Amino acid sequence: MNLVVVSNRVTRGNANEPVTGGLAAALLPIVEKSGAIWVGSSGRVRDGAQKEPFAEIEALGTGALAMLDLPAAHYGGYYEGFANSALWPALHSRADLIRVSRGDYLSYREVNAFMARALLRFKKPDTVFWVQDYHFLALGAELRELGLTQPIGFFLHTPWPARDVIEGVPHHRELVEAMLAYDLIGFQTEDDCENFASYASASLGLAIEDRVVMSRYGRTRIAVFPIGIDADKFARQAAKAVSHPDVSRLRRSLNGERLAIGVDRLDYSKGLVNRINAFDRMWTMQPQLARTVSLLQIATPSRGGIEAYGLLQSELARLVGEVNGRHGEVDWTPIRYLNKGFSQIVLSGLYRSAQVGVVTPLHDGMNLVAKEYVAAQNPADPGVLVLSKFAGAANELDTALLVNPHDIDGMARTIAVALSMPLPERRMRWEAMMSKLRHRSIQRWLSDYLDTLQQAQTERIETAQVAAEPPSAAEPPSPWQLRSVSSG
Ligand code: G6P
Repeated sequence: MNLVVVSNRVTRGNANEPVTGGLAAALLPIVEKSGAIWVGSSGRVRDGAQKEPFAEIEALGTGALAMLDLPAAHYGGYYEGFANSALWPALHSRADLIRVSRGDYLSYREVNAFMARALLRFKKPDTVFWVQDYHFLALGAELRELGLTQPIGFFLHTPWPARDVIEGVPHHRELVEAMLAYDLIGFQTEDDCENFASYASASLGLAIEDRVVMSRYGRTRIAVFPIGIDADKFARQAAKAVSHPDVSRLRRSLNGERLAIGVDRLDYSKGLVNRINAFDRMWTMQPQLARTVSLLQIATPSRGGIEAYGLLQSELARLVGEVNGRHGEVDWTPIRYLNKGFSQIVLSGLYRSAQVGVVTPLHDGMNLVAKEYVAAQNPADPGVLVLSKFAGAANELDTALLVNPHDIDGMARTIAVALSMPLPERRMRWEAMMSKLRHRSIQRWLSDYLDTLQQAQTERIETAQVAAEPPSAAEPPSPWQLRSVSSG
């Protein structure tokens, strides 16, 4: 099988370079080891009508990376517009933040169509296409329009919200109908999958049986595949990384003080304001904790051109300043706040140096930082994970200290509990989480998904054959050919 993986953001795979977002970090080892081609945006744009999409191709482990220049006229409307100012807020249940124009939607569709044309050059008879995330909801439908009959799967890294929230996205109906061109749609959690099914049946009026949605495209299977990490590899990396200069400097600077760590993209879904408020509350309610614990908050900027992100950045900078001003001392800064990215290696060492990991998003598809924090711990003296119950990771990491990120007092108390947790309890909780991480690895995510995709494609062909009159003995008819015949 030739695997072609598609996502908006790709990463070049230098372990010393920062990786933005869980998706890129998760796909990297898959491409390196499976020999897949990973196609995504180069981050550059190109003017004019390109006959052939321009792709820069380079080796990545046993696979390859193809980075495309996207069309200049549509990039803004696609990325900052429809993808990140309509879909992202809606998918994270923030319909109040939707800001979008019809032009943005058209640009989104144009870029999806552009990507489909670009993918044709990677098509072989045994190619399997695997599309990632909300930037490319309509890519499968565009590929089918171009006559592609190979299996095409889709995986959503974000949550899928309740029906009335997704209905807040202009053109939601067209978009979800287009999604049904995929053979398989994967979700992070049961709730996401259920929400999608309820939209398909109640809003689109489609029949769903046994997690198969019937549409004009035929059968689309929907299923849950919680994304994982390579926990043992991350653990080995973390053990080594404690001697990395950045990590040693941090450790020396602590002078015996304990450390809580938060690592997030600077995004309103991550609950950063509430988290800073919770630390503020903790130092106010328990002044004896001043000087004994500080927070290292890394908030890596992304999507800075979007108003909601700019406002959040200013709000956080002001809030951190206030909290540091309120609780700080001449020789103690309560919150170390950094607006930059770090490599996976350095991050693993930072996680291992922190007695508490705070991962408190308001909504999150999975959140791989939570998993990486756990994997990075020293088994003999592990730290404690404080985890939002609204992160997908909470389904598996249920022996973390689960919090409601809207309850500031509750979070403040829980962080204090984490700091004073005795070693036997820390170990018990950590071992339970670690065994789940080992069980649900990134390798398993890949193989479960691809097995189900192959199966979904086989079922689709079989169903199409049964429906066809008369069935062709020589070559099985493609469901796409049948569809275009039957739908005119
Ligand atoms: C989230 C999304 C990814 C995205 C990443 C970084 O994890 O699910 O698709 O790549 O954020 O976002 P950015 O807009 O900076 O690429």
